[in-house]
Amino acid sequence: MDHFHYKENELFAEEVSLKDVAEKYGTPTFVYSKATLERHAKAYINSFKSMDGLVCFSVKALSNISILKTLKNSGCGFDIVSGGELHRALLAGADPKKIIFSGVGKSKAEMVAGIENDILSFNIESEQELDQLGMVAAEMKRIAPVAIRFNPNVDAGVHEFTKTGRKSDKFGVSIETAKDLIKNCSENSNLNLVGLTCHIGSQIMELNAFEQAAKQALELLVELDKLNINLDFIDMGGGLGVSYVGEETVQPIELIQCYEKIFSGRSERLILEPGRSISANAGVMLTKVEYKKNDFLIADAAMNDLLRPALYQAHHDVWPVTKNNGAMQSAVNLVGPICETGDFLATNIDSESLKGDLLAVKTVGAYGFVMSSNYNSRPRAAEIIVDKDKFYLIRKREDYSSLTALEEGLDGQV
Ligand code: LLP
Repeated sequence: MDHFHYKENELFAEEVSLKDVAEKYGTPTFVYSKATLERHAKAYINSFKSMDGLVCFSVKALSNISILKTLKNSGCGFDIVSGGELHRALLAGADPKKIIFSGVGKSKAEMVAGIENDILSFNIESEQELDQLGMVAAEMKRIAPVAIRFNPNVDAGVHEFTKTGRKSDKFGVSIETAKDLIKNCSENSNLNLVGLTCHIGSQIMELNAFEQAAKQALELLVELDKLNINLDFIDMGGGLGVSYVGEETVQPIELIQCYEKIFSGRSERLILEPGRSISANAGVMLTKVEYKKNDFLIADAAMNDLLRPALYQAHHDVWPVTKNNGAMQSAVNLVGPICETGDFLATNIDSESLKGDLLAVKTVGAYGFVMSSNYNSRPRAAEIIVDKDKFYLIRKREDYSSLTALEEGLDGQV
């Protein structure tokens, strides 16, 4: 459930008219609802019953510091995948003991930063990565906390690019290798094995694949019991799908109940790393129709602002900011000004919009702004957060000087 709704014919985020936001800050602009973010974080946090739970919001989904602060204040920790995300989480005031470092390619510098900041765990994805972490920790005369990411070889039934739990994917290690790495950890005094982890994909619409992965995790835990190896946590990653066009979704409480049932009687903590299911429905992107031509609405936002439709053929609903009760035209394509035929925000939508109208592209709070770029030398959009009847700029719109700020001419001048 989100807090975007019509009052009369005007679209509001909580108690703020989106027309007012566009008037003040222009378009394209991402607008997030604080109440929606908090509600979704609580939907996870309040669902743990028999297990001690920790929700580590996946920073890659939406990384603005003000958003991270909001989620931290709701009780979330963070799942990070880069030194940059660590920097952001720390700036947001995150408790390092609630930070998990995931990802297949952590650099030495990133390992040093994680150890220096005393994070909860490095989720390790290969033997070489584990070796390198051991060496980095030894050089620093420290002990690095480790969770092994196993690959359960399950197909999460989602878009090819967002499946991560099959044997053929680059993520995690097989159960057999996981056992070897666990052994390596116990033989290395600079490594401390604290957990077991997996993440099978994103935008998953059924419990089945989560269940299969959890059962394999349980089998491994039972084997470790026999070896007297005890872990602090089991981290089942993120992946819960959201509704883009009214699809039925699994609720966080159902997912957590499913895990609690499988892990019943175990003493490990349960960590989850949701991204999309917390932030996707908390954001819209405001864009203005610049022109109308045949069945094209040409917007001032483009694939550089929202890449998902072009990259994954993802569908996002598009709502008018003001309903005009004009004549509906069907099979309209909302496209941007970028010089690529693949530059579309939505295809085959029904729309009454005309030149100058404002539109809200929905469900862009996850993998929206964070995947934006400066392609075609387009400055990145502004970001706004709405809190009840107030709205705040949380990232300025870039301007032309931001586009060239880091460039240097051959003669040292631009
Ligand atoms: N944990 C790990 C290790 C991950 O790789 C991811 C997402 C998450 C947690 C959070 O997953 P979520 O709960 O958001 O599904 N750009 C794609 C999605 C890529 C997801 C990458 N990993 C999209 O726009 O659909």
